[in-house]
Amino acid sequence: MSEAPAPAVSDLFDKVVNLCKRRGFVFPSAEIYGGFRSTYDYGPVGVLLLRNVKDAWWRSMVQLRHDIVGLDAAILSPPAVWEASGHLKNFTDPLVDCKVCRERFRLDRLDDPEVCPNCGSKHSFTEARQFNLMFKTYAGPVEGAGAEVYLRPETAQGMFTNFKNVLETSRKRPPFGIAQIGKSFRNEITTGNFVFRTREFEQMEMEYFVPPDESPRWYEYWCAERLAWYHDLGIPEHMLRLRAHDEDELSHYSIGTSDVEFLFPWGWDELEGIANRTDYDLTQHASHSGERLEYFDQAAGVRYVPHVIEPAAGATRTAMAFLMAAYDEEAVAREGQGQGEVRTVLRFHHRIAPYKVAVLPLSKKPELSAPANDVLAQLQPHYMCDYDETQAIGRRYRRQDELGTPFCVTIDFDTLDDQAVTVRDRDTMAQDRVPMAGLLDHLRARLDA
Ligand code: GAP
Repeated sequence: MSEAPAPAVSDLFDKVVNLCKRRGFVFPSAEIYGGFRSTYDYGPVGVLLLRNVKDAWWRSMVQLRHDIVGLDAAILSPPAVWEASGHLKNFTDPLVDCKVCRERFRLDRLDDPEVCPNCGSKHSFTEARQFNLMFKTYAGPVEGAGAEVYLRPETAQGMFTNFKNVLETSRKRPPFGIAQIGKSFRNEITTGNFVFRTREFEQMEMEYFVPPDESPRWYEYWCAERLAWYHDLGIPEHMLRLRAHDEDELSHYSIGTSDVEFLFPWGWDELEGIANRTDYDLTQHASHSGERLEYFDQAAGVRYVPHVIEPAAGATRTAMAFLMAAYDEEAVAREGQGQGEVRTVLRFHHRIAPYKVAVLPLSKKPELSAPANDVLAQLQPHYMCDYDETQAIGRRYRRQDELGTPFCVTIDFDTLDDQAVTVRDRDTMAQDRVPMAGLLDHLRARLDA
């Protein structure tokens, strides 16, 4: 599609981060106080992008299926949940301090465990200690023993603790799933690579409960489904792969995990893990709570604890991958003036694009504002639209290209005579004259295809 070569890999990261700040996708949290490195805020465009990522996931998981239902569980929960899940004991990373520069590192992420990557000192690390990643706080006015609660480090446990509630109310039977999107919190030892690893982030997780002997089949099924989801939403095949975990990488609850990985500018890295959690969680919660967390198959007359296949994705991390995959630069003739320039364009899949349409009256004059507002009123109930009436039209097109808006609709002085508008395509820059009365159908045919 692009005439210019793809931007150099080393450039891509900085270019996307700059664009995110410049165009209102992502801002560092508490920036006016010097920033807070471990969290980020999603601006007017970023919040739309993130919402579209989550909506696309929910659509494929819940709306288009009959075997998966949704849930929105609490973020705060008592220690009993984390005792049972194993997170109090096992959700740790090995932490080392450099005795020379006092920086802290996650031992298992060091290129060379003997050399401090900050100051270059050799053999300067303390003994590794296991650091629990859960954030602890207190419920109620008194801090102290008995009042501790934890911010969830994964949304998954809400699905397990509600297994019985959902089974009894939803009329589902294995194989069936519970899906949830929401914030999770981890006190990561090191954060970084923009929104890739933060201490507050959003997850999209689904627990799929199956008869035990069917779990290998469903594991394969969900690996294939999840890889296809990213691809269908426009991430090219060469930027995606599935990688099975080695034995020593597995989480404490998993007997098999495969990651969907994306080719980030720094190399392959995880977007999502698909894990075979067996009956670990239901069994743990059953024995700690005293509740029976099982399924009784009346037809077969058997009672069993379902096994769980879990596709667990990061919404914020996935939004970043969509940004990286969509970024493109292209040498073009300046629209309308014939001079060469490089345009930056985010070639998002339509479903992911923050705005679907930008409505652009050629001038701010009231005679154009009126029809422009008519166009906006026609489109807004159906699509997220931007409206922009200042600056030269060429610059406004470039701005929309950088937001990844698939279509710009321009209202000009001819519109007053012919009741038609110009529809400009983000990817081809082709312009079509379309009657205002048929505009919605024209866009629908392209956006909903
Ligand atoms: N319930 C299983 C679970 O939480 P995980 O691999 O630890 O598995 C799932 O997390 C996904 O959540 C990851 O693949 C990643 O996309 C996202 N994620 C995890 N930690 C994150 C962090 N600190 N910042 C941003 N996203 C994170």
